[in-house]
Amino acid sequence: MPAPDKNFIRDAFDSITPRYDLLNQVLSFGMSAVWRKRSAEIVLDDPDFAPRTILDLGCGTGKFLECFLRRREQQVSASVTGAQAPGLRRREQQVSASVTGAQAPGLRRREQQVSASVTGAQAPGLKIRKWESVTGVDFSAAMLQKARATVSESVLWLREDFDALPFLEASFDLVISGFTLRSVQTLPEFLGTVYRILTPGGKAVFLDLTRPRHPLARLLFYPYLKFLLPIAGWLISGNRKAYDFLSGSVRSFPPPEKTLQLMNEAGFRECETKSFSFGAATLIIGTKTAASNDP
Ligand SMILES: C[S@@+](CC[C@H](N)C(=O)[O-])C[C@H]1O[C@@H](n2cnc3c(N)ncnc32)[C@H](O)[C@@H]1O
Repeated sequence: MPAPDKNFIRDAFDSITPRYDLLNQVLSFGMSAVWRKRSAEIVLDDPDFAPRTILDLGCGTGKFLECFLRRREQQVSASVTGAQAPGLRRREQQVSASVTGAQAPGLRRREQQVSASVTGAQAPGLKIRKWESVTGVDFSAAMLQKARATVSESVLWLREDFDALPFLEASFDLVISGFTLRSVQTLPEFLGTVYRILTPGGKAVFLDLTRPRHPLARLLFYPYLKFLLPIAGWLISGNRKAYDFLSGSVRSFPPPEKTLQLMNEAGFRECETKSFSFGAATLIIGTKTAASNDP
């Protein structure tokens, strides 16, 4: 698959920004918001993972990042009020076990996996903490402007190219990216960079559109992808080429297994996928384990 034309992509996203969120909702029949929210729950409700720094690559209007901010807020307020957010009971068991010296199931694995920086989040007496730093990166000025205007939390919004990231090694506990892999120039290089900027124990989380597996779902999905999506996208956004690109890139992008293989080659371990809506979208998670050596 040839590398996508970066200038074209940036101009396309600049031009569709005002209608981007509406289009996402209409064209996914409301499911894109559900997939984002569910992804944040899956990642943050994992009791063995306590990220404190988060980076969203290709953040667009900030909708994916917002789901992670909201989920953490719910967890923090549940831990303050004593209500039980999903995943919190398990984390409390781990904290009390680490104080008493008892070994909560899974704690040994957690100790092996997670670096000192991540383990710091589990200090006795502390429950789930707020984010220490939140960063969103996009190269579309219009997208960033909308993100800044609509996301209420304090976020460092950076206008950068995610194919040439300026971050130091081990800068973030969690790197997320929604619906962007098809815009990446060279996937192995991109995954290598994400691996490098993660802290040991950190996770990379990609959510993207994929092609359903189920024959019946495929039967409906292909005409939708080839005809309905580009035409509806064109009519609502006014930019025909942008939605031709979207349609073509979903049809030609390699399946999630290929991304998993490339993640493994980049050094990620414990890679897993979760498919949504019969495979119309897939969540891919990989961990930079404390023990894994650089590839
Ligand atoms: C399909 S949108 C996804 C936005 C957001 N993640 C979401 O969930 O709605 C892709 C975003 O990636 C950005 N993008 C594409 N290529 C990029 C690059 N090389 N560097 C930075 N941002 C890029 C686009 O400007 C656009 O905002």
